[in-house]
Amino acid sequence: MDFIEAMAFIEAMDSEKLRVEGYVIVSADGMLADGRGEMPAALKFDADQRFFESALDRVDLIVHGHNSFEDQPRSPARRRIWVTHTAPALARDPDNANATLWNPAGASFEYACRHAGVTSGTVAIIGGPAVFAMFLDRYDTFWLSQAHRLTIPGGRGAFPGIPEQSAQDILTAHGLKATDTRVLDAAQNVDVTAWRRD
Ligand SMILES: NC(=O)c1ccc[n+]([C@@H]2O[C@H](COP(=O)([O-])OP(=O)(O)OC[C@H]3O[C@@H](n4cnc5c(N)ncnc54)[C@H](OP(=O)(O)O)[C@@H]3O)[C@@H](O)[C@H]2O)c1
Repeated sequence: MDFIEAMAFIEAMDSEKLRVEGYVIVSADGMLADGRGEMPAALKFDADQRFFESALDRVDLIVHGHNSFEDQPRSPARRRIWVTHTAPALARDPDNANATLWNPAGASFEYACRHAGVTSGTVAIIGGPAVFAMFLDRYDTFWLSQAHRLTIPGGRGAFPGIPEQSAQDILTAHGLKATDTRVLDAAQNVDVTAWRRD
């Protein structure tokens, strides 16, 4: 086995041991932010924030772009990958010992995880839209929270292709199926559905 074959073998082994999950809350029309690209207060619900925070406490690694930092009390302790064009491939974040800077054009996801010190376990993808889209064919489970009473006209969709398609249509097109739904806030009609790959 030559060097390139050995690297491909390691990558395939790592890939099998990494579980990939997505987390987002969207409005009834599939928006994760308003037209300025900011998440409005109306899309923040205590029950969903608790669900999201406890989920992140259980995962081994978080992946996100620079505007999708989760900003929770235990955030500084979490291992994370920042998706960015500012690194050629992989680099340590000089400002955060727990963070790896990753440019997907320069290194595979498996190498990024390995660089972050994670070769098995669960990786949570937490946005934004371009980062969610990178993993559409990869999610084992996508946790889609939705505020059914709220619409954000002109907002930013959770995935490219919204609003022409719904978030549910896009997940279905990428091989995921809605399995179970949990009500998070009955009064506000907010729930979370697990979309799983067979
Ligand atoms: N409702 C929710 O659950 C939810 C979830 C996530 C985010 N949000 C909100 O949605 C908004 C998302 O903001 P955003 O669109 O700016 O997304 P973002 O993913 O947080 O940040 C975008 C940045 O990610 C990096 N990036 C994205 N794709 C890349 C690629 N292919 N290669 C290299 N780097 C890449 C780039 O960073 P560089 O500029 O460093 O190159 C880009 O500027 C925020 O307001 C956030 O609060 C809401």
